[in-house]
Amino acid sequence: MINVLVTGANGQLGSAIKSIANTEGLISFTYCTSSQLNITDADAILENFRSYDYDYCINCAAYTNVDAAEEYFAQANAINGLGVKYLATACKESRTKLIHISTDFVFSGKHSLPYTEFDTPEPASAYGLSKYRGEQEISKHLSDYYIIRTSWLYSEFGHNFMKSMLKLGKERAHLSVVFDQIGSPTYAVDLARFILQLIQKNTDAFGIYHYSNEGVASWYDFAKAIFEEADIRIALSPIRTAEYPLPAKRPSYSVMDKAKVKASFNLQIPHWRDSLIEAVKNNALL
Ligand SMILES: NC(=O)c1ccc[n+]([C@@H]2O[C@H](COP(=O)([O-])OP(=O)(O)OC[C@H]3O[C@@H](n4cnc5c(N)ncnc54)[C@H](OP(=O)(O)O)[C@@H]3O)[C@@H](O)[C@H]2O)c1
Repeated sequence: MINVLVTGANGQLGSAIKSIANTEGLISFTYCTSSQLNITDADAILENFRSYDYDYCINCAAYTNVDAAEEYFAQANAINGLGVKYLATACKESRTKLIHISTDFVFSGKHSLPYTEFDTPEPASAYGLSKYRGEQEISKHLSDYYIIRTSWLYSEFGHNFMKSMLKLGKERAHLSVVFDQIGSPTYAVDLARFILQLIQKNTDAFGIYHYSNEGVASWYDFAKAIFEEADIRIALSPIRTAEYPLPAKRPSYSVMDKAKVKASFNLQIPHWRDSLIEAVKNNALL
């Protein structure tokens, strides 16, 4: 049996892992919510890791409010930077492999070709900086880690763009969505499936990996596809980012190259449009 700790278990990704975990009989999961295990509490982390014999820790805990992080950087960094350091230190001591989730927001978005794992992060937002600090803490303190950078995470769980669109689609006759930010939507359940595969393969191919669904889209394209799949009729207008100002700067292009993850784990990654069909269906069943 492989023992796995999931931190931040009540969030979107934690919930996605829970939703498929029952089918993975060889893994025993311990789910900890933020109130059960606060990753900013170094002593609690050490005590927890010393009490259990985890083979893996999947860190789904994060400060994810991108705009609020501009004003509350210390809070974001306490979780995404320092909290991750405490996890990495505990993993080192207990020989636990860390699977940590990071973000496309570590990149500035100035590229016009997909970002590879060899590109140097240059975060343009406080959230992106806090997540990059977490990555740096891991590589400083640990060797047995997987950092999985993902992008535009959505699902039937938690708060995300798909769920916001479905809600607004019921309330509004017209909606404007930005068309000048390009990225790759990622169905959280697909990411959860990959993480479980990674654990089952139990390799030592440690390092940084980029994982999103295949294909690229603008937020406008993504919104249009969501309304089509959910059969919602709404007047949708493409607008520029400048017409919808928000506190945090977003990368205008954050497509990530997935060649490394596909080659290393012999992966077939679903196209975002196919996964969206599954997500909309599953959302309707909740
Ligand atoms: N969402 C996206 O579009 C996106 C894109 C790229 C990368 N990512 C990354 O993917 C990962 C998963 O994201 P998500 O969408 O699942 O986020 P989420 O739904 O916001 O979940 C984050 C979880 O972390 C918990 N948490 C916050 N502070 C904590 C602390 N101090 N100790 C323990 N748990 C704490 C939260 O609990 P409470 O609710 O109780 O505070 C929440 O359950 C994150 O690392 C995120 O940075 C997300």
